[in-house]
Amino acid sequence: MAVRVIDITVQQGEIQKRSGEAIVVNLFEGMRPGGATAAVDGAAGGLISAAVDSGDFTGKRNQTLLLYPGKEMEASRILVVGLGRKEEFSLEVTRQAAGTAARKLQNLGVRQASTILHGSGAGGLDVADAAEAVAEASAMACYRFDDYKTGGKNKKGLRRLTVVERDRRSIPAVRRAVRCGLHIAGATCLARDLINQPGNTATPTYLARTARRIAREGEGLRCQVLDEAGMKRLGMGALLAVSRGSVEPARFIVLEYNRKAGHNPLVFVGKGVTFDSGGISIKSGVGMDDMKCDMSGAAAVLGAMQAISSLKLSLYAVGLVPATENLLDGKAYKPGDILETLSGKTIEILNTDAEGRLILADALTYAARFKPVAVVDLATLTGACVTALGHHATGMMSTDDELANSVRAAGERTAERVWPLPLWDEYREQIRSDVADMKNTGGRPGGAITAAALLAEFAQGYPWVHLDIAGTAWTKKARPYVPKGGVGVGVRLLTQLARDWRKP
Ligand code: BES
Ligand code: MN
Ligand code: ZN
Repeated sequence: MAVRVIDITVQQGEIQKRSGEAIVVNLFEGMRPGGATAAVDGAAGGLISAAVDSGDFTGKRNQTLLLYPGKEMEASRILVVGLGRKEEFSLEVTRQAAGTAARKLQNLGVRQASTILHGSGAGGLDVADAAEAVAEASAMACYRFDDYKTGGKNKKGLRRLTVVERDRRSIPAVRRAVRCGLHIAGATCLARDLINQPGNTATPTYLARTARRIAREGEGLRCQVLDEAGMKRLGMGALLAVSRGSVEPARFIVLEYNRKAGHNPLVFVGKGVTFDSGGISIKSGVGMDDMKCDMSGAAAVLGAMQAISSLKLSLYAVGLVPATENLLDGKAYKPGDILETLSGKTIEILNTDAEGRLILADALTYAARFKPVAVVDLATLTGACVTALGHHATGMMSTDDELANSVRAAGERTAERVWPLPLWDEYREQIRSDVADMKNTGGRPGGAITAAALLAEFAQGYPWVHLDIAGTAWTKKARPYVPKGGVGVGVRLLTQLARDWRKP
């Protein structure tokens, strides 16, 4: 399912000689223009250094300077983007610089531009790493969700970006890296689309249809979807209970990549609640509309599976998505109900708004069928996680330190950072039930952890990491390469984890 991202090509040459609507260069804070930026400055008669000398442009991170060189140059605009202090430079600064530039050009109505690879010169980045980051972030920054805006499709925007690299020997590596970056951006934008789609479009059936389409259009993918009859046959009592309050039928999606008999896959599980009203324990109306994002874990898993296939990685990976709505009607599950899960363990319901852990319980039990080398689940699971970490980190709880370290490293690399919360035995006490094996809420203290403690009862027989993305899946504030709305968090993290996975 190809999401339209901008077209990025690579050309050998010198940026100051490029024609077109705009060229993009950069500046480290507190430094004079160097490298390609100096070459542009020279060609433009010192326009950039004049702005620096006047103090108007300091090169602070994501600061921009727009210049019109007139007849001096072929290009009509020069955009300089700040990289911040050189000591603080990183791959993420490159992404943000590329994103800032792309967004600025997009807002100007510029349709075509050329850019250098931020950070591959004085920044000291590997040229391929810089190229992937620039392509990925530029494409992600240009994402817009305008399916429902009349005329939105015709809105002007950045369509074509040319990466200009001087060193002829780097060109093949840069081309490969740009392709990778575009695949990853495309997969992230697919996830964003799924999240941003309203609940009346993105139903469990829609997620299943999307998974099938990803499988059809990608390579090495195979999709199987369980309907409610199938779930009943297996005994997915928890997923079915949540689904009972809605007329939209639930779906359980299995998307496999590079299936290999006798091999053990890396398994991803994503919470797919396409709308969470809270059920009988109904949420207050304020901000309830945001709960269309409660399938962001599912979106991350589907996006990552697409990216893994596009990158033709050599591992065996499986994506699992329990998909349902959480609504309330005469058949809805209720506080006090006791559910029998796929594992046979029973759960007493105290609050129907703690539905994510229930559907994940069945999915995590199902995951064991694959004898996974590891399982990572992603879920917009608890408001408590937002309270604990805010919007800048995903909460991580795990039963395996080595896997947790790998996830953490992937998070650092992609700037989709995760932060550990403890999963000590003591927390288990809070979900002890008098009448069933456990209850589905553990009170306010440590709410993100007691939710994970319930999941841990089902994530058995394999190394496991749980990622609570409640605070990171959705943003009310645009960032350099993340527009408002669905972030698509987890796509790049999971893809990175798969890329770094020890070869089987
Ligand atoms: N989907 C919500 C969690 C959530 C909150 C996601 C904010 C994104 C942003 C989840 O199903 C939920 O309602 N959790 C409850 C659990 C409670 C009833 C134990 C919560 O966090 O309040
Ligand atoms: Mn809920
Ligand atoms: Zn929920």
